[in-house]
Amino acid sequence: MSIIVNQQQFHLQTDHSSYIFHVMANGELGQLYYGPRLHDQATYPELMVREHHEAMPAWRLDTPDFQPETLKQEFASLGKGDYRDPAFQITEPDGSRVSEFSYQDFRIVDGKSRLKGLPSTFDDEHDDAQTLVISLVDAVTQVVLELSYAVFPHQDVIVRSAKFQNQGQASVKLDRVLSSQVDLPDANYDLLQFSGTWTRERHLVRTPLRSGIQSVGSLRGASSHQQNPAMILARPQTTDDQGAAMGFNLVYSGNFLDQVEVDAFNTARVLVGINPTEFDWQLSAGQSFQTPEAILSYTGDGLNQLSQQMGDFYQHHLVNPHFAQQQRPVLVNNWEGTYFDFNEDKLVAIAEDAHELGIEMFVLDDGWFGHRDDDKTSLGDWDVYQEKLPNGMAHLAERVHSLKMQFGLWFEPEMISIDSQLYRAHPEWTIKTPKRQMTPGRNQFVLDMANPDVVDFLYGKISGLIETAHLDYIKWDMNRNITEAYSSTLPADQQGEFLHRYMLGVYDLYARLIAAYPTVLFESCASGGGRFDLGMMAYAPQAWTSDDTDAVERLKIQFGTSYGYPQAMMGAHVSAVPNDQTGRITPIETRAAVAYFGDLGYELDVTKCSADEKAAIKQQVAFYKAHRELFQQGKFYRIDNPFTGDGNVGSWQVVSDDQRHAIAARYQILNHPNPAYTRLYLRGLAPDQRYRLNGGKHIYFGDELMHAGIFVPHLLESTQGVEQSADFSAFLVVIDAVEA
Ligand code: GLA
Repeated sequence: MSIIVNQQQFHLQTDHSSYIFHVMANGELGQLYYGPRLHDQATYPELMVREHHEAMPAWRLDTPDFQPETLKQEFASLGKGDYRDPAFQITEPDGSRVSEFSYQDFRIVDGKSRLKGLPSTFDDEHDDAQTLVISLVDAVTQVVLELSYAVFPHQDVIVRSAKFQNQGQASVKLDRVLSSQVDLPDANYDLLQFSGTWTRERHLVRTPLRSGIQSVGSLRGASSHQQNPAMILARPQTTDDQGAAMGFNLVYSGNFLDQVEVDAFNTARVLVGINPTEFDWQLSAGQSFQTPEAILSYTGDGLNQLSQQMGDFYQHHLVNPHFAQQQRPVLVNNWEGTYFDFNEDKLVAIAEDAHELGIEMFVLDDGWFGHRDDDKTSLGDWDVYQEKLPNGMAHLAERVHSLKMQFGLWFEPEMISIDSQLYRAHPEWTIKTPKRQMTPGRNQFVLDMANPDVVDFLYGKISGLIETAHLDYIKWDMNRNITEAYSSTLPADQQGEFLHRYMLGVYDLYARLIAAYPTVLFESCASGGGRFDLGMMAYAPQAWTSDDTDAVERLKIQFGTSYGYPQAMMGAHVSAVPNDQTGRITPIETRAAVAYFGDLGYELDVTKCSADEKAAIKQQVAFYKAHRELFQQGKFYRIDNPFTGDGNVGSWQVVSDDQRHAIAARYQILNHPNPAYTRLYLRGLAPDQRYRLNGGKHIYFGDELMHAGIFVPHLLESTQGVEQSADFSAFLVVIDAVEA
């Protein structure tokens, strides 16, 4: 039983955590506790202590100590004496904005059902999930609020969402609706956020909470390169290896808000959900509004454990089950190899060489449609560019398939170029605000995905190509953010719904394609990592992590990303040098050693590689395939953090579930002369198990490898006698269990 009800107290108990709330004297919900698992008790008097504070409103004249501002609330509104940012706000037809949602009843359902129209979690594996739904009603408007808590006991995860149903006679307006609120009793936490921009996404930023509101979010119509919905609160002393931490994330790809408000009493209110800016929703009589799901997870055992349990949860309860644990193919993508300059023979030559090297899938990127020779034209015209591919897509696909390789294709479904047949036929499908100019981004504009005709059109085009070319894979790109947000299909008083309805249209298209073509693997992309979020992952099991393929930059990007997402979600490619994003020249071994810890691919013209490079790639692909399960699905441990110190070193490790196989990698950006005796302390091994390193003779115990560590040789040694820099190095160790 993971949900225990004691009269009007609800205790959600996972294997290692407890989340407790109750019905307060005023009928609203109050929060009691979120942290390490507690014994269940009928009441927790110590968690309900209240003292009267001067100079703030109380609920009633005869309850001076019942002061909303000092209460830990479960899903707070504004306007009745709690002045912190609320979880929701409703405007009634008379313009009033006060709500009072009183507890009605609850129900507990075994399992976890999916949400309609939104990406959502599930419990297809019967992993003991239970869902608690609490109903509350506002007597004045007759709006019903259902708060849903799905408890996944073994991953220590709780999934929250809220649903408003208007059972009254009049329309009301939802001004804001977050997905989750947690009021923590103290604010002694560091906030870990994952921030950056294009080509340097999800860099870790760790700062202590301070008084007032601190938040990350997006108003771009996409979760964004700049901030990510993953957020962690960790005790100041918490590290990757030990200490308490709470993880939050949102199953959503549009505008989001992750916010922590520290008040005058040092409590911390955590809000996660759709960004209230640029959002409102008309809730007419009989209608309901469902929020996206927020994920909450607690651990007392450090940030590696937090990432692992959340990642494991996504892989089993969120990602398309057909692919979640399936091995992902090693691919070659022609983008950085050819850009727009290719023809059928050129592509087939790349595929043939790649096949020789053991690569399993060929992906044709941008430039195959309309008359697209640069990024100024043809988006929307998803018909083959005859001059480049005169025999059609089916013919190219057949040539690739005949090599016993899979074939994948790039689309950017949500976009339109002015220079396109689609724009000439349907200018009204482009997002624009009446009487205003349209702001270009990468020379292109955005389709109105809130318009079902647009979704139908795209479904027809994409499904047509899936069928004629027997596509195995689709890279779904999104290369600009939304401006002039407005839909010609919505009335004036519903324009505030547009950005959410846009996302619903995107999700609808994804859901329809996946239902019809369950064996097509989708990789999401938004100029690299601009929509690296759980909403996308529900449909597309992997994402192009960043347009930055430089090994040094990727170390930070993948390290930062690993806090919130498992490595099976990260597309990671080896590209040519000098790198197109940084101009840096790194050894191909280092480029591969970083890309191994994700879904490996090559993004270069292999026909131009030297014999030595080809030999290296062949050996890398074979090595990756031999350890693919471990690289993609192993438990991921961060070891040396490149966001700390001088940032010169990063290291990480993957370990198999049975702890018999592991691979660790240590990357050093610049070499130092006369270095110290550096050690790499391994993680996650069985202390009593014997292991061999890199197939060597000596046998080590797991405890020794973890606590005494292994010696990292002077980097100069590895480059003696060869013309290679000792900078940008990677030191890779394969650890295998042996019997005595
Ligand atoms: C985006 C993607 C790249 C590539 C180009 C094609 O930038 O992130 O991987 O597909 O578009 O235009």
